[in-house]
Amino acid sequence: MEIKLFEGKIVLVTGATSGIGRATALAFGREGATVVLAARRENLGAEVAAEITEGGSEAMFVRTDVRKPEDIDALFETILEKYGRLDIAFNNAGASLPHIPLITRTTLEEWDLVMETNMRGIWLCMKKEIPQMIKQGGGIIVNTASILGFAGEYGLSHYCASKHGILGLTKTAALEYAGKNIRINAVCPGPIQTEILERAAPLIPNMYEMVINNTAMKRIGNPDEISGAVLWLCSDEASYMIGKEISIDGGQTI
Ligand SMILES: NC(=O)c1ccc[n+]([C@@H]2O[C@H](COP(=O)([O-])OP(=O)(O)OC[C@H]3O[C@@H](n4cnc5c(N)ncnc54)[C@H](OP(=O)(O)O)[C@@H]3O)[C@@H](O)[C@H]2O)c1
Repeated sequence: MEIKLFEGKIVLVTGATSGIGRATALAFGREGATVVLAARRENLGAEVAAEITEGGSEAMFVRTDVRKPEDIDALFETILEKYGRLDIAFNNAGASLPHIPLITRTTLEEWDLVMETNMRGIWLCMKKEIPQMIKQGGGIIVNTASILGFAGEYGLSHYCASKHGILGLTKTAALEYAGKNIRINAVCPGPIQTEILERAAPLIPNMYEMVINNTAMKRIGNPDEISGAVLWLCSDEASYMIGKEISIDGGQTI
């Protein structure tokens, strides 16, 4: 009999409609987890849920805008009503701006959009996830930061600040709740072929060439090259890993 790694686990993936979140949700599904998918695009959410269900695991899409606290409240009400528990959370929803405004040209609306989606969204999700995990006797959380969580980048002050903040949040949360049997870590992807890059490419001349040249491996990664690390962090194999980040970046930060 095939043993699946996450059989019987209830797993939340935010930003599950495309890119890294979609790949990770599908990977959890293949490993037997019941997957709750959260994001805004209902048609894509339904497609990912259907793919997981066709593979033999359970999945549910809950339309959620992580910028809206009331949506996050409703998401957790739905999860607890349906499943009564949450074992693993992959807080991955994130956004950037397609263009690269310098700090002085970044508008308040642009700054708020990125900070609220990336950093405040994860904070709000953890405020719901942690109490539930404490009640259950433990849990595992992985947050998506970026290699721009420990470096600056021209025209990306909003994004870099949000991703630095996510690492600070991850480490602090890990310290605060280690004693409650909750392991909290982060992944830091380098350039991965997803919609975030695709949206920026038309506005930044030679973007792909520059991005590829910055990596030691001279290529862009694919979302499955991140999902493997997330599943490992959520497995018992990573039982002594806490408050840390894993960079997966084709050698960009070597
Ligand atoms: N691709 C890269 O090179 C790279 C590198 C480092 C870090 N990352 C990080 O990886 C994560 C996933 O991004 P990706 O590369 O997979 O890009 P993506 O394909 O654009 O995925 C972003 C996901 O976040 C969701 N999302 C965006 N705003 C949201 C909101 N307000 N509420 C709920 N969900 C929202 C999107 O779904 P909806 O539009 O349906 O809401 C989508 O599912 C992000 O945190 C990103 O910063 C990516």
